[in-house]
Amino acid sequence: MIRKQRFIKSLSFALCLGAAAVTSGLAQAKTFRVAVGDGAGGTQHQLALKFSEVFKEKTGGQHDTQLFLNGQLGDEQATVNDASMGLLDFSILAINNVTPFSPSVGVLTLPYMVQSLDDAIALTQGEVGQQLVDNTVRDAGVRIVGWAYSGFRVLTNSKQPVQSLDDLKGLKIRVPNNEIMIDTYRAWGINPTPMAWSETFTGLQLGVVDGQDNPYITVYAMKFDEVQKYVTNIRYLFSIEPLIVSESVFQSQTPEVQQAILDAGQAATEHGAQWLVEQEDKIRAELTSRGMQITDAANGEQEWMDKAISQVWPKYYDQLGGKENLNKILQSLGRDEI
Ligand code: MLT
Repeated sequence: MIRKQRFIKSLSFALCLGAAAVTSGLAQAKTFRVAVGDGAGGTQHQLALKFSEVFKEKTGGQHDTQLFLNGQLGDEQATVNDASMGLLDFSILAINNVTPFSPSVGVLTLPYMVQSLDDAIALTQGEVGQQLVDNTVRDAGVRIVGWAYSGFRVLTNSKQPVQSLDDLKGLKIRVPNNEIMIDTYRAWGINPTPMAWSETFTGLQLGVVDGQDNPYITVYAMKFDEVQKYVTNIRYLFSIEPLIVSESVFQSQTPEVQQAILDAGQAATEHGAQWLVEQEDKIRAELTSRGMQITDAANGEQEWMDKAISQVWPKYYDQLGGKENLNKILQSLGRDEI
């Protein structure tokens, strides 16, 4: 009988503790799911690791994250949809896969707009970046809280060295489902093949497509050297890869947790930029040692640049806030107006 009373007492004590935990917020501890488009070893992964570390620390260990690398939670564009519906917490992906949901971020995929890491930082972390963050919340229901920078997207293929636009002819090149990038290849004289990121390795392996473009770091993280041999250094797109959070998930957090997300995103952004500077040359050398052959575009890439700028930019003036807006951006980067 005494034993039974003791049992009932400890049970009520345990229940009280549980209730206290609920009211103090402990029971709301959560493991946030983070989708990462690329495999391990690249800038997306670095951004994810740093974000997770700082986020956990800033929430006093109450909240944690779980990373799903290599598109395990779906294609990059699908993760934007899922996050916007509140079915996914975070995603790290290339900006070109956000553009279809929030057209104004297309300014970051306009060919030859971003010509250096400094340009990328100035655009994403300044006034323009804040506008893009706001537009993306409004248009896509996701909030950009951090940025990774992965370097220029270089062209790779399995067939032949490419230096001129003539060399491109006959090659089947995969592009993301992004109108600006599709139009850029059309300006270069070929019809590219839009393909989801998660299908790209297999597409290259099976010869459905011969080539694609992505930064050295991404080529390395995705092991594309196993299925691609020739690399052309082109500089039409500097790859920018945001960390997005579902806006509905963000809004359902306390102000303290929201601040922890923003602070961790900022810390991860700074870490990612530093990591790129330290690693890009080493990774390029590693890809060469694995047998990739690297070449520059002929004549300083002039014909690539001329065709892309003259044929693609005018088509997107309206979508990107008008020619004056683009000129303001160019001016802020210290460049000539168009
Ligand atoms: C793409 O080509 O779809 C993306 O740039 C891939 C990536 O996120 O690295």
